[in-house]
Amino acid sequence: MYFLAHDNSQCRHYFTGEFIFDIKYVYITENQSVGMSVRETWATRVGFILAATGSAVGLGNIWRFPFLTGESGGAAFLVVYLLLVLLVGLPVLLVEFVIGRRSNRNPIGAFDELNHSQWKFAGAVGALAGFIILSYYSVVGGWVIQYLIASFSGGYGTEAQAFFMSTASGPTTVAFHAVFMALVAGIVALGVRNGLEKAATVMVPSVIVLLVGLAIYGSTLGGASEAYQYYLYPDMSTLLSDAVSVLPAAAGQAFFTLSLGMGVMITYSSYLGEDRNLLRDSGLIVVIDTGIAILAGLVVFPFLFTQGVTPGEGGAGAIFISLAGAFNGLPAGELLGGVFFFMLLLAALSSAFSIFEVVVSFTIDTFEISRVRASVILAVIIFALGIPTALDLTYLDTYDKFANNILLILGGLLLSLFIGLSGSTPPMPATNSRKAASRAGSARSGSTPSATSCRPS
Ligand code: TRP
Repeated sequence: MYFLAHDNSQCRHYFTGEFIFDIKYVYITENQSVGMSVRETWATRVGFILAATGSAVGLGNIWRFPFLTGESGGAAFLVVYLLLVLLVGLPVLLVEFVIGRRSNRNPIGAFDELNHSQWKFAGAVGALAGFIILSYYSVVGGWVIQYLIASFSGGYGTEAQAFFMSTASGPTTVAFHAVFMALVAGIVALGVRNGLEKAATVMVPSVIVLLVGLAIYGSTLGGASEAYQYYLYPDMSTLLSDAVSVLPAAAGQAFFTLSLGMGVMITYSSYLGEDRNLLRDSGLIVVIDTGIAILAGLVVFPFLFTQGVTPGEGGAGAIFISLAGAFNGLPAGELLGGVFFFMLLLAALSSAFSIFEVVVSFTIDTFEISRVRASVILAVIIFALGIPTALDLTYLDTYDKFANNILLILGGLLLSLFIGLSGSTPPMPATNSRKAASRAGSARSGSTPSATSCRPS
């Protein structure tokens, strides 16, 4: 495809099959490196949904959700969590999608674009949450890599709990935290979003198939009925007495699992065209994400009960302890374990990537440094932030509660307030130009219309 040089004082739209570009600075030919300010758009609705689902489905569903449910009283927690996903998570997801699609910008730049610069701090709260979350997310990602390696090199030892403790903290944990962070930064620095989009295509269905298989196997175990009783039949009296701790935990989880409150979904929807039915897309993402979390509980609890581990006691190690114990006892357990932890690693990477992308794009825009440099510097900072967690598990809880139960919820609240208070703001001229591009695009290319902005992304 060829583009012609053109001055940067006005925008023009270039139609190239599936994509439409609004181009401000253009100086490429087919063989030259790209030196223009272009915002790509998702080629298809499925591509967008998969990328957003790839961000949403991650350690939050398979690792965090079961252990939180275990710590917070089982089925009662599940009920509150489902209510919050529906009543708060879905609307906030829509809020983020609307801000991103309307502004076509990163979560902080979006407020400039929408002429509400005074709200930029809402984006900054999200960026801060991103640093903290990724710092410990990467430590847990390092555990997954260690379990993956163990699957292929002699298994997880005879004592699943002891094996977890030796994996979860210490110098080796720091080293694997570095490996995970390097993987995330490497991918983001290369800008290979397509790679992850493709990974998500394989990852989401594979995770579902594996979890369904494991849940069916779990249902045959001795502890299954006790586990279902615990996980699926809420005891409303404990719910009322524990409301003070259950509510923030469930709200934090609803935000964490849907990647809300820190601008990931603003960024992803900034690559959207105008004609999407955002409610339908959000609904689908919520259903897939919640379904995978529920399924993870159906796997973890039968295994935990069968091994005699009380759910609350497993803590952050619940999924690792229960599954390693289970895989140890299965005929082809190590192979199955290897496949499972590989999927978990993909899921973790595509989520970590989305968090890192927000922080990187914000840094590039604010400090005007290159993507590679921003990725390296930020990876080092986030790695350093994660070291305490990698050396001492108790930090994980502190970081996790502060970032999720406070910062993410604050971020989501601010974004919702922003939409509520500025709902009467007339559309920006840029929006109109995008709409025109979008309409023209659908007419010319016959493909799903997609539109972009003239502004640097
Ligand atoms: N949703 C992801 C998970 O469940 C984690 C995640 C990705 C996230 N992006 C986020 C959490 C943004 C909070 C904010 O594992």
